[in-house]
Amino acid sequence: MPAKKSPEAEVAALRREIAAHDRRYHQEDAPTIGDSEYDALVARLKALEEAHPELKSPDSPTEKVGGGLLGSSFAPVKHARPMLSLDNTYSADDIRAWGERVLKGLPPGARPRFIVEPKLDGLSCALTYEHGRFTRAATRGDGETGEDVTENARNVEQVPERLKNYPVFLEVRGEIVLHFKDFEAVNAAEKAAGRPGFVNPRNCAAGSLRQKDPWVTAERHLKFYAHSYGVWEEPLESHSEFLETCAAAGFTVEPHFRADSIEAVIGHYERFKAELPGLPYAVDGLVVKVDDFAQQRRLGFTAKSPRWAVAFKYPAQQVTSTVKAVEFSVGRTGAITPVAKVEPVFCGGVTISSVTLHNFEEIERLGLAVGDRVLIERAGEVIPKVVKVSEKGRKRTAVRPPRKCPDCGGVVEKEAELVAYYCANPSCPAQLRRTLQHFASRAAMDVAGLGESAVDQLVGRGLVKDVAGLYALKKEDLLGLELFADLKADNLLKQLEASKSKTLDRVIYALGIRHVGEKTAEVLAERFDIDSLLEASVDGFQRVPDVGPIVAASLHSFFSSADGRGLIERLRSHGVRMTPPERRAASTWEHAGKTFVFTGELSVPREEAEELVKAAGGKTSGSVSAKTGFVVAGEAAGSKLKKAKELGVTVLTEAQFRELLPK
Ligand code: IVH
Repeated sequence: MPAKKSPEAEVAALRREIAAHDRRYHQEDAPTIGDSEYDALVARLKALEEAHPELKSPDSPTEKVGGGLLGSSFAPVKHARPMLSLDNTYSADDIRAWGERVLKGLPPGARPRFIVEPKLDGLSCALTYEHGRFTRAATRGDGETGEDVTENARNVEQVPERLKNYPVFLEVRGEIVLHFKDFEAVNAAEKAAGRPGFVNPRNCAAGSLRQKDPWVTAERHLKFYAHSYGVWEEPLESHSEFLETCAAAGFTVEPHFRADSIEAVIGHYERFKAELPGLPYAVDGLVVKVDDFAQQRRLGFTAKSPRWAVAFKYPAQQVTSTVKAVEFSVGRTGAITPVAKVEPVFCGGVTISSVTLHNFEEIERLGLAVGDRVLIERAGEVIPKVVKVSEKGRKRTAVRPPRKCPDCGGVVEKEAELVAYYCANPSCPAQLRRTLQHFASRAAMDVAGLGESAVDQLVGRGLVKDVAGLYALKKEDLLGLELFADLKADNLLKQLEASKSKTLDRVIYALGIRHVGEKTAEVLAERFDIDSLLEASVDGFQRVPDVGPIVAASLHSFFSSADGRGLIERLRSHGVRMTPPERRAASTWEHAGKTFVFTGELSVPREEAEELVKAAGGKTSGSVSAKTGFVVAGEAAGSKLKKAKELGVTVLTEAQFRELLPK
């Protein structure tokens, strides 16, 4: 008989085994055991953890909701101190001017030292540790309140579960990034599964952290780099000391550079530029910080950013390549977009082989022909664009708008006053494919199982003729598709069923009506139900704030057309409910909508006072302008109070402000 395992070893083995089953179930759609066997493993693990409480761990599968799945949305987390942003500078002169402002803010003769770090292009995250144990992770959110992503963050590399030496309570902030090589691997896997992939490592990192399955996060190999803190309950003298202490506690910090002057910062900026192409992750600039904390405190903050730190950005990376062809892609509205196919080039960490040219006017403006060498730029690491033709090709072929739709062969038309060419065939399969993808997208009906390859097959086999047709799909239809196993088919049908209860705003957006984005859909759903949308006139639509004549005409033409009305009817008959979203109770406070600015010292933290205003239906701001409703001045109020008086803005004491609040 084999030797009996120690409880510790058995717990570890069970956790590994359960993790493997979770992965097979959630990621690979290929479970190897049934539900009851799975439940038995979890029950055994639970029993062992009960009997040996010292073996309990917050990252055990027994602690995770639904066997590793998080709830459908993330709980809000109010940050201990707001997570601010940084001001940007782009040139040596800009950074010199910033250096001057720093000097002005310090006592005469001060010679601040600077710490210079790479500015990582990821997403910021705040990690809380209590008694050296990781207890919470929150995204930045709007800076005041983020989302609780604790369970997923446990699966981010370089997030220590326990620290080596630490204050009792601390909140470390840093950047979660995905290295280029891991990004390429994720995208290859996404594409193999028929999904479109992510546009850049930052989006991929955000998508991997803000989804519901901690195992997905684990597979993506995200990494955390610490760069600042919200709370550190120990006296620290400088940022360099913070970085050292952080590294000693077990965090990973980035290599940084010390500079004694702004000229030294500029020298480093120039030298570091040459290293950008070889870095493993996306860096879009440097962050320059005053090292000394006493000096930092003296310099303080503006409403949005610290005065003691600034971003020193690098210009977008540019490369040249040759245009081999211009292809035409048909969007969901039928608009035809020219896309330049170029010799593959490496830029900003990824290989570029296609560059959008937006429309035919853009081609004219650039004077671009096939065979030309072009300068390509990837701004903000998103979609690459052609900046200019850098050298005309010896053999050039002019680009002309297609006469026929490249997908269905339908007639191509140009709408008067619009720059785009459209395929006029309403049943063009390319348009239908895009329409279905849009309908299923996350911000619309959120049917994640409907990837690109599934859509291609459904349209290609004539199984779906419009978005309502999705709801008529049967399991047999799906099992006939390539790469669709039993579980995947069930999953897709389940997701389609769940999407029927999406609220009206999502449905309006999902319909893909020309010029109607998410925001407009939300505003419409607050004012109309589905029946009144079908009856509304152009004027009726135009009375909605932010809806102009073009959008109103587009809405009216959709909801009054036989096609549009027929589609709504079919969606309804399949059980798509289109319920109005919950309305936020309108504030009845007489000062609702007015802007309040707080200045000076109040008896409560400023954030708390601002919360009172927001809860009552008012707005807050950090700066005074003619549009400010009230300035609330505490002790020792300075320039804002002065400005309020100059502008004639009503100034209140804290007590008067409290009187004003709804009772
Ligand atoms: S220090 C007040 N250091 O850049 C913010 N931020 O534009 C102090 N970032 O949201 C942050 N690399 O997430 C700091 N080395 C670095 C950084 C860095 C990237 C991000 C940060 C912040 C954004 C501000």
